[in-house]
Amino acid sequence: MGKVKSNDSKPGATLVPQMKVDWRARRKEKQQWKKEKEEKKLEKTLKEEEKKKVQENIEKEEKVKGIHYTISVAVPGSILNNAQSKELRTYLIGQIARACVIFNVDEIVIYDEYAIPESMDDETLKRDNRRKCLVQMAKVLQYLECPQYLRKHLFPLHEDLQYAGLLNPLDTGHHLKEYDESQFREGIVTNSVHPEKGGCYVNIGLKKDCFIKESLTPGLRVTIELDSDNNSAKKLKGKPVPPNAPRDRTGCYWGYSVRLASSLSNILNECPFEGGYDLTIGTSERGDNVDATIESLPDNFNHCLIVFGGLKGIEAAIDADTTYSNISDPRNIFKFYLNTCPDQGSNTIRTEEAILISLAALRPKLMRKTIINQ
Ligand SMILES: C[S@@+](CC[C@H](N)C(=O)[O-])C[C@H]1O[C@@H](n2cnc3c(N)ncnc32)[C@H](O)[C@@H]1O
Repeated sequence: MGKVKSNDSKPGATLVPQMKVDWRARRKEKQQWKKEKEEKKLEKTLKEEEKKKVQENIEKEEKVKGIHYTISVAVPGSILNNAQSKELRTYLIGQIARACVIFNVDEIVIYDEYAIPESMDDETLKRDNRRKCLVQMAKVLQYLECPQYLRKHLFPLHEDLQYAGLLNPLDTGHHLKEYDESQFREGIVTNSVHPEKGGCYVNIGLKKDCFIKESLTPGLRVTIELDSDNNSAKKLKGKPVPPNAPRDRTGCYWGYSVRLASSLSNILNECPFEGGYDLTIGTSERGDNVDATIESLPDNFNHCLIVFGGLKGIEAAIDADTTYSNISDPRNIFKFYLNTCPDQGSNTIRTEEAILISLAALRPKLMRKTIINQ
């Protein structure tokens, strides 16, 4: 205890205890404090560097694992007219969907091989059978691509979907069951919002909905990446990511998108991928023998498009398309025009069969994931 003495000689002045300062100890304390501060700073920098390295490694790994090219298939909607009943029409669409997912097709374009004139009004279009085929094919393809647990939310009852429930499932990586573990899940935004935090909940086919910080429109289909930590059976947290994120980052096939094209030329003109299709293939029994040509197909492409014709072949679609009024040879439109089933035993190969045959024949060039990772 330090001595207590008056620091003012005036009578009645308050007495303030005067402590003797141990400057050496203070300096030591200060040095120690500085040292600890520097150590903490160093620790933080090291942690950040480690985190950065881990992130870089993840990105590198994702670059190797991910698929960075796309495959598109175009079919005319009119092929539905070749099926005799509603059930068979639906089944035919199911065959196309299964063929496409087996070969990791990212985009299915349904085109009008008769090129509906722009001037046709909406009412006439509605009655027009060609338009009906396009719309039904698109609807069933989208229904099949959608994970089962989301279908009742996204597809109201409709006569086009009457028999769709009977079709063979696509059984792809994004059609997950409740017990399946996955970094990504498809979901639908619910009406529930977090009372304090804002954000919203997404139904991702699990018992609990997943919380995301973003406020999205209820009813919207979203791809969710689940947080690797912070997730327990009680609380699920994640974030919305682009629908192609799972395939870009993990190489897992994540379904196809569906697009309508009003003519053959619009398949190419309205390509949704940056830079357009850089590998285009037309298919026909009059094409070049695939076995003799396959080696000349490029090993590197960004966006490949394979076009199939209807009952009268691709030539009929070219004839109906005013953009191609000066063109009659498909070789002037596509980089390759291929016969993918040389020496066929039947006089005609149906379009739905040709899709499966052609994708199988082109597989060594199209499915580069295995080639890259070898
Ligand atoms: C019923 S076929 C069309 C046959 C029609 N007689 C023609 O002249 O093209 C329907 C589609 O299946 C595909 N296809 C049929 N046979 C093929 C083959 N040998 N190689 C590649 N594609 C074929 C083509 O896309 C064709 O337009």
